[in-house]
This record gives sequence, structure tokens and C-alpha cells, in this order.
Amino acid sequence: MARRATKGDARADARWASLDVATTTTTTRGSTRAATRGDATASTRGDAVRRYRAMCVDGARGGACACARCADARGRRAREGSRAGASTRRDAGRGRTFASSTSEASARASEQAQDEASEAASGKLAAAMARSADSYMLFHPQYDLRQVENVKPAHRQPRHVRDYVAYGLVQFSRWSFDKVTGYTPKKSLTTDGWLMRFIFLETVAGVPGMVGAMLRHMMSLRTLKRDHGWIHTLLEEAENERMHLLTFLKLREPGLMFRLAVLGAQGVFFNAFFLSYLISPRTCHRFVGYLEEEAVRTYTHALHDIDGDGPASEWATTPAPKLAIKYWRMPDDATVRDLIIAVRADEASHSHVNHTLSSMGIRQANPFHVGHTELPENFVEPPAGFVPEHCR
Ligand SMILES: [Fe+2]
Ligand SMILES: [Fe+2]
Repeated sequence: MARRATKGDARADARWASLDVATTTTTTRGSTRAATRGDATASTRGDAVRRYRAMCVDGARGGACACARCADARGRRAREGSRAGASTRRDAGRGRTFASSTSEASARASEQAQDEASEAASGKLAAAMARSADSYMLFHPQYDLRQVENVKPAHRQPRHVRDYVAYGLVQFSRWSFDKVTGYTPKKSLTTDGWLMRFIFLETVAGVPGMVGAMLRHMMSLRTLKRDHGWIHTLLEEAENERMHLLTFLKLREPGLMFRLAVLGAQGVFFNAFFLSYLISPRTCHRFVGYLEEEAVRTYTHALHDIDGDGPASEWATTPAPKLAIKYWRMPDDATVRDLIIAVRADEASHSHVNHTLSSMGIRQANPFHVGHTELPENFVEPPAGFVPEHCR
């Protein structure tokens, strides 16, 4: 019992001694080792190490660690600092010191490297954003402007009742709109007059493709059957019309009354087209085919104005908006006249596509695959070699 008490006392003494002052650990540990033959030594050393580490952590956080090792480190840093200061002060009389010139040069190099890295990063970001902005777009056309300059208005003769209904509706709509806006094909318009007409018509023209795509999408979900490739073509048409609108908006900003008129027109036309497409999709595609014939006629009139000596002739030299140059991938020096030529080619394509879709069965596979860019001279007829179901 006495031996056990002696061993316990020695262990306790050694532990407290090591916790109080780390530098006395060796002595305490030595006397403990002598007194207890080893087993208390491990325990004492372990406590000392744990305590030392804890103090160092405290010191690292607050900078006020009282342990011997941290105190030594602080002293060493202070001595090195004062030696460096003395060296810099000695060199100061000879002008710019080596130390300062080295630090300034390294600071400049560091700033330059940071600038370069930042420029490279922002350049990469801009390129990535441009790529992603482009990737937002569906397929969009690129024309040989010399070829599409020769697009001429065309007309498909109505052959069935639905054709006459569609054609009659388009003619009535055009007549009414022309009356309200005071437009005649014989009268020249100013650039503002043309832009207001284009902008209003494009807000309407972007509706049918989206409605058709949406309803075919829903039909596919509802009937658990595939769509046969129509949806993407219709969505491309809707986006293409919206790009016409956004491009013309770069040239003129409409006022409040105009915006209200657009709101009313969309409310009426969207609902009317939606219901009509549910009843007879083929009549709706024929309606769009005839509507686009009229659009080709209107843009041809605008080009005639641009090539004449009226107020719109300034568009022959006015640079096209950057948005248009990027979208139609036109040359950098493209003009608004080139833009109108590209838009007219788009309208001819829409007429070509919609007249063809109208003659097809609703389950017949779409011949206009993604990336299809062929525009036949007689664009109101189906593509060469393709026979729609209702033309057999
Ligand atoms: Fe358009
Ligand atoms: Fe169109």
C-alpha cells in the first residue's frame, strides 16, 4: 500500500510540474522516472505534450501564447525584423535601396500578372458567354445574299375549301390593316413608317409557330404518340419571327399606344389561332402560308423603296444592327437593305414550310429536318421530290 501511495504521489507531482512550466518537464520527468521506474513517465510526457499543443493553439489564435517555443519564435522574428530594418536604413543614403526596389519590382510584376490573369479570365468569360448566347438559339439561316436578292413574290392558287377560307381571311386581314394604317403598295413610306409596320406585323407573325408547336407537343403527350419532327420546325419559325422583331426594335423604339395595340392584337390573335388550330391545323398552316406570301410582297415593296430615291433610300447605306449581322451571319459591312433581303428570304421559307405542312397528313414525317436551308424558286410548292399525303 505504501509503495502504491508513493508511486501515485510521484505521478501527481510530475503531472502538475509539467503542466505549470514546460521547461521543467525534463527534470520532473527524470525524477519521476527514477521514482516510479517508467510507467508514470509515459503518462507525464503525454500530459505535457497535450498541454504544450493546447498552449500553441491559443498562441496561434491570439498571438499571445506564453509557451517557451512560441516565445522563442517571437523573439527570432523580432531579431530578424530589426536586422532587415537596419540593412534598409543603411542602404537608404545611396538612393533607392535594393530591398525596396526588389519589393517594388515584385509588386509591379505581381500587379501586372494579376491584370493579365484578370483580362484573360474576363476574355474567356466573354467568349463563353458569346458561345452560350449563341447556343440559346435554335437553328438559324445563313443566306447567300446575292442569291436571295432574287426572291420574288409568289402565290399558290387555292384548290380546296380550306384554302379559300384561309386565303379569304388573309386578304380580309390585310385589307383592314392597310386601311387602318393608310398603306398602299403604290405609296412610299418613311423609314419610321416602315419600321412601325414591320414591328407590328412581326409581333403577330411570331404567334402561329409557337401555338402550332405547343399544340403538337400536347397532342404527343396526350395520345402517347410521336410527333414526326414538326415541333422543332415550328419552334424555329417562331424564334425566327421573334428575331425579326428584336432586330427592328434595334432601329426604333415604339411608344405606349403602339405597345397597347400590340397587346390587344396578341390577345385576340393568339386565342383565335389556338382555337382554330384545335379545329383544323391544316387550314391554319394554309393561313400562315398565305400570310407569309403577303409578307414577301411587303418586304419586296420596302426594297423597292430603298432602291428608289424616297426617304427609305438611306437604308441602302445604313449599317445593319450587330444583332442582325450575328444572327444571319452576314458580312460585317452589311446594311439594313441586306437585312431586309434576309428577312424576306425567311418569310418566303415560312410560306414554303407552311404550305407544305398544310398539304401533309398530320402524322406524315416532316421533310424539313433541322438545318434545312433550301429555298426553292417557287417557294409556295413543297420541296423537290417530296409528295405530301394530300397531293398524292
Ligand atoms: Fe417575319
Ligand atoms: Fe414569317
